[in-house]
Amino acid sequence: MVGMQIADVRDEIDHELVSSTQIHDKIAEVAAQVSKDYADGDVLLVAVLKGAVNTLAAFSQALSIPAQLDFMSLSSYGAGTVSSGTITVRQDLSADVTGRNVLIVEDIVDSGRTLSWLVAELKGRGAASVEVFALLEKPSRREVEVDVKYKGYDIPDEFVVGFGLDYDERFRNLDSIAVLKSEVYQGGQA
Ligand code: IMP
Ligand code: MG
Repeated sequence: MVGMQIADVRDEIDHELVSSTQIHDKIAEVAAQVSKDYADGDVLLVAVLKGAVNTLAAFSQALSIPAQLDFMSLSSYGAGTVSSGTITVRQDLSADVTGRNVLIVEDIVDSGRTLSWLVAELKGRGAASVEVFALLEKPSRREVEVDVKYKGYDIPDEFVVGFGLDYDERFRNLDSIAVLKSEVYQGGQA
């Protein structure tokens, strides 16, 4: 597969953390497990826009069971690299989650605030079950306890971009996960 790789943005990238191959291997492994776990029932995959879109697309394609896809747009971050802590819904799901088995597909869990809010929200709407797959987690940054049943990679406390993750709307289409050079976001609130 040819796409935007680190070599194409070398001036702004410090180093690669998770390669494209590692990303797709992990997604395939989790998808195989989820395909077993949900073999008997329907599953509604919910992704938070925009960061989780790449993970959702790859993950849904790796499942061997039927799945529905839905999206929600939440805002907790500005243009900087630190969560503001306040969650607002910019665009809601189109599906009614009442009685559904929901699997939230997340790009990254940082403080855990976004995810813990979303899990509570979907349970409050009457979902039959709510589980989470997070491709990346920064364990050292966790402020709020959230149960991530399907785990991807733990990463250090560094701001990362790629495979859906952005810095100020850039680098989402990078094919791997990488750490930016600090001068790229020095003007931000990091
Ligand atoms: P939390 O609420 O602090 O857990 O933040 C979760 C959301 O913040 C993620 O779904 C991302 O959209 C964004 N985020 C957290 N860490 C990073 C990062 O290192 N790079 C890009 N976006 C991030
Ligand atoms: Mg996100």
